[in-house]
Amino acid sequence: MRRPVVMGNWKLNGSKAMVTELLNGLNTEVAAVEGVDIVIAPPALYIDQAAGLVKEGGNKLILGAQNTDIHNSGAFTGDVSPEMLKDLGASHIIIGHSERREYHEESDEFVAKKFAFLKENGLTPVLCIGESEAQNEAGETEAVVSRQIDAVINHCGIEAFNGAIIAYEPIWAIGTGKAATAEDAQRVHAFIRAHIAKHSKDVAEQVIIQYGGSVKPENALAYFQNPDIDGALVGGASLKADSFAAIAKAAAEAKA
Ligand code: 13P
Repeated sequence: MRRPVVMGNWKLNGSKAMVTELLNGLNTEVAAVEGVDIVIAPPALYIDQAAGLVKEGGNKLILGAQNTDIHNSGAFTGDVSPEMLKDLGASHIIIGHSERREYHEESDEFVAKKFAFLKENGLTPVLCIGESEAQNEAGETEAVVSRQIDAVINHCGIEAFNGAIIAYEPIWAIGTGKAATAEDAQRVHAFIRAHIAKHSKDVAEQVIIQYGGSVKPENALAYFQNPDIDGALVGGASLKADSFAAIAKAAAEAKA
């Protein structure tokens, strides 16, 4: 049985005051929630502050981050390394988010290097994959997600997916309110798991596959009731303690 993982990607949102308010609220909301890993990915600048607040809440929340470099130190101006993230207490690191693939021109191969470097440093990659609206309409969803996963398999080997997380985020569903139906998401998740199973059944069986894209308290349970949807990567709704907690509770309830 896979333990669900619900992760909040705060993206470029936050201030010292906001971090304090959101995490104090979340600590209270999730104190009694069992059976789900609840992860937050604040902007890198606020991870240290968040770590202190997570500790105050009894470490019920797990700390993550939104990106990493592929070096641990050196002349790489502006970057943040796995070693630094680990030093601050972050374990679950988002890579390959469509916003980075698009605005920073990150290639499948570059994302695969990040995946490998996170594993090397003992961190958990949260690999985002997903198709654009045009690719979806052209019936290319399976081809796109296969290509994105194959880049990692080719670079790191299938065993690298042991303990890793995949987040299926159709780009057209991100921040649009136009979420994929639970049925469509389940179909793609089952395809992703079967694609991995072609290389290793054991790896496919344990890998966490989250859905992301306009997940809200109102639609969360319907996703989690599907066998191959093991959690969610949440953007907008993770910025409010009550809505993010409601999504985490829905995952715990559905997978209990
Ligand atoms: P929204 O939940 O705001 O659609 O964002 C999803 C996302 O991109 C999480 O990484």
